[in-house]
Amino acid sequence: MERRNFLKNTLITTGGVLLGGATIHRFLNNKESAEDPFPPLIEKIHQGNKKNVLVLMSAGTRFGNTDRLTDAYIKGLVEKGHSVTKVYLGSMRIEGCRGCGLCQRHAHKCAIRDDMQDLYPLFAECDTVVMASPLYFWTITSKLKAFIERLYAISTDDKYPSKDTVLLMTAGDDNDTTFEQPIRYFRLISQVLGGNEKGVYCAGGCTGCEELARQIDMKHLDNAYKMGLEL
Ligand SMILES: Cc1cc2nc3c(=O)[nH]c(=O)nc-3n(C[C@H](O)[C@H](O)[C@H](O)COP(=O)(O)O)c2cc1C
Repeated sequence: MERRNFLKNTLITTGGVLLGGATIHRFLNNKESAEDPFPPLIEKIHQGNKKNVLVLMSAGTRFGNTDRLTDAYIKGLVEKGHSVTKVYLGSMRIEGCRGCGLCQRHAHKCAIRDDMQDLYPLFAECDTVVMASPLYFWTITSKLKAFIERLYAISTDDKYPSKDTVLLMTAGDDNDTTFEQPIRYFRLISQVLGGNEKGVYCAGGCTGCEELARQIDMKHLDNAYKMGLEL
């Protein structure tokens, strides 16, 4: 793994990055970003009259690279008139599936009492699910994987509800194979959810994580915004 590459220039960019992330957040939420010490884990960003989009932001850090990429995409969705709910999946308590099988015998209810219980209704109502994740050890975050596993509870005979799907990712590396694994996995999950894949955007070459400063190239935010406009 060439993860040392993304530690370059971190200190130089601290101010600009934090300011940029906060600005996008304020624009979307119409409020100051840094004041609430206990921000909500589920935010209704916009009520529109088009698609109902559920955005799962699975990084644990707000205003980080993945959050900023996600907000840029959401900005496009909002301008297009979609309804958007943003979930801070990375900050939620979500276990992986226990494989107990109770759901299949008891009305497709999951036995695990955690934050996933708040997400089942949101997933049921949405037309599109956006999975946003930093690359962690060549794949998606464990939180996003746990969310996907827990969908087993609502399956019947291994059949799942149909949803449009979108993948947004960030990573330190930036080469031909950086996002190979998660994209392949995302495509499998998209098939399971009806095969209506609506876009993949992977932003390589991000810095940060192991230092204070994080940086994502503005071109990625611009591209994600344009992709949001196209949904
Ligand atoms: C636990 C962990 C594992 C990571 N694994 C990889 C990796 O396999 N490949 C890579 O290119 N970057 C890796 N990274 C770097 C992050 O993907 C990258 O910095 C990302 O943009 C961080 O997103 P965030 O600011 O939203 O947290 C890893 C970072 C962490 C904390």
